[in-house]
Amino acid sequence: MENPILKRRSVRKFKETPVSREMIDKLLEAAMAAPSACNKRPVDFYVITDEEKLQEISMAGRFTRMKAPLIILVVGNLKRALPLQLADYWIHDAAAASENILIEATALGLGSCWCGIHPQKRMMQKVSQILGLGEKQLPFSLIKIGHPDEFPEPHSGYDKSRVTFLE
Ligand SMILES: Cc1cc2nc3c(=O)[nH]c(=O)nc-3n(C[C@H](O)[C@H](O)[C@H](O)COP(=O)(O)O)c2cc1C
Repeated sequence: MENPILKRRSVRKFKETPVSREMIDKLLEAAMAAPSACNKRPVDFYVITDEEKLQEISMAGRFTRMKAPLIILVVGNLKRALPLQLADYWIHDAAAASENILIEATALGLGSCWCGIHPQKRMMQKVSQILGLGEKQLPFSLIKIGHPDEFPEPHSGYDKSRVTFLE
């Protein structure tokens, strides 16, 4: 199979066909296989397939409105975060988990799009309110997933001018 890392593109049009529970489990397994600073794993996941909730959450931002049958919301859990100045590593962990979901989605033949929430305070508040998150739970990304109804060509972003080789 083509390398899913290089094949991955943001997909914003999806078929209505639901994503199977088996596939959802694989996406979550991939998310939780991501590296984590000191292995604290301060990340929670919300799987949303309820039509009303999907719509409500999708309206939280201007660029999150595309219709998809599945959203995985990646949430930082500060109760599990590292102490003091290391606490912000939750952001890195949440990003690594988010990326793993996208790669696994591509490997499964699904389309996906990472929609950023953190650090946009208003969006974070809206999503927290809709899902009744605790005050130590910070919405990070909202990942739209479904069977794709558009197929953007893979693109290579490899640009050697951005790299310094110390040889
Ligand atoms: C942190 C982050 C936030 C993003 N937020 C959005 C978003 O709100 N809506 C959207 O349609 N795409 C969003 N994207 C997807 C980017 O627009 C997309 O990755 C970029 O245009 C490159 O295209 P590609 O993913 O197809 O390679 C986001 C991506 C990242 C990494």
